[in-house]
Amino acid sequence: MTSDNDRRRGLLARLRGRPAARSRGRRRLGAAFRLIAALTLAGGAYTVFAPGVQAQENPPLTGAAAEGRALFDVSCVTCHGRNAQGVEGRGPSLIGVGSASVEFQVSSGRMPMARQEAQAMRKPPVFTDEQVRQLGQYIQELGGGPQVPQGNLREGANLSTGGELFRINCSQCHAFGGGGGALSSGKYAPSLAPASDAQIYAAMLSGPQNMPVFGDNQITPEQKADIIAYIQESLKADQDQGGFNLGRYGPSTEGLAIFLVGIVALVFASLWIAGKS
Ligand code: HEC
Ligand code: HEC
Repeated sequence: MTSDNDRRRGLLARLRGRPAARSRGRRRLGAAFRLIAALTLAGGAYTVFAPGVQAQENPPLTGAAAEGRALFDVSCVTCHGRNAQGVEGRGPSLIGVGSASVEFQVSSGRMPMARQEAQAMRKPPVFTDEQVRQLGQYIQELGGGPQVPQGNLREGANLSTGGELFRINCSQCHAFGGGGGALSSGKYAPSLAPASDAQIYAAMLSGPQNMPVFGDNQITPEQKADIIAYIQESLKADQDQGGFNLGRYGPSTEGLAIFLVGIVALVFASLWIAGKS
């Protein structure tokens, strides 16, 4: 046992000793090689990671998004900032609002906002449909967020379900006839009359101003189709069936109108009766 171990140790010593003794130069060469390898690795790692850091700041944009960015840099950057992170006291960050919000705001002419006001107003849009899409694509690629689906947004819609959903979710602000109404602190829910299918869908997805967000968990895409169809086909179709809409303010103006018309009729009736007798 012992002699076996001794013999093995001796063998190992000889094996190790010999090459080490053979060349000190080779060891130096090895050290130099390791140094070069380490430097190369470090350099390589730098070239791999440094552009990576840059790429995160400027992600490659698709063609449409690059067009959108060019428009953004001219018309929106003063209030929403470079890379759309927002500007204190001027405009909110647009990171994560999605193309839905952009398409809603820009296609309804609310953006670009002309001046600071309590609530951006609907105006004739400044941009074409194509430009609106490009702006939306830019914000989408920058930060993601909700998107309006492509195609027919009233596919297989059910008008009566739509009416029910509208009365539960929308009428408290937009009124039963969709004519809109005042909210607190000088804000208002606008009339739904000028809104397109895509704008109604986008408004639900993005919840502009005081409007709540109706995500797909609260109101499914099928239910959104029902609501859109109800607004576009029932509400707008039977608006003003009785002639004048009286501003669509509901019972108080209607009551006032009936009151005035009724009083006048009564006065004439009594004059007529008085004249006869
Ligand atoms: C004069 C300043 C101003 C300019 C210019 C402007 N915005 Fe805005 N933007 C605002 C303000 C303030 C709000 C928030 C008020 C509101 O929603 O009514 C806003 C809100 C938005 C929103 C809604 C954000 C959300 O949370 O959903 C979008 C999207 C938007 N702007 C896009 C744009 C785009 C795109 C442009 C350029 C075409 C633009 N804006 C130009 C001031 C501006
Ligand atoms: C709490 C009140 C409130 C509720 C509830 C509400 N909205 Fe709104 N809605 C608003 C306000 C406020 C605006 C205006 C936002 C702006 O001007 O930036 C608006 C804007 C809109 C617009 C844009 C109209 C235009 O100018 O084109 C549409 C479309 C719309 N809402 C649809 C709906 C639908 C559909 C529902 C129900 C699913 C709903 N809203 C529920 C408050 C509300």
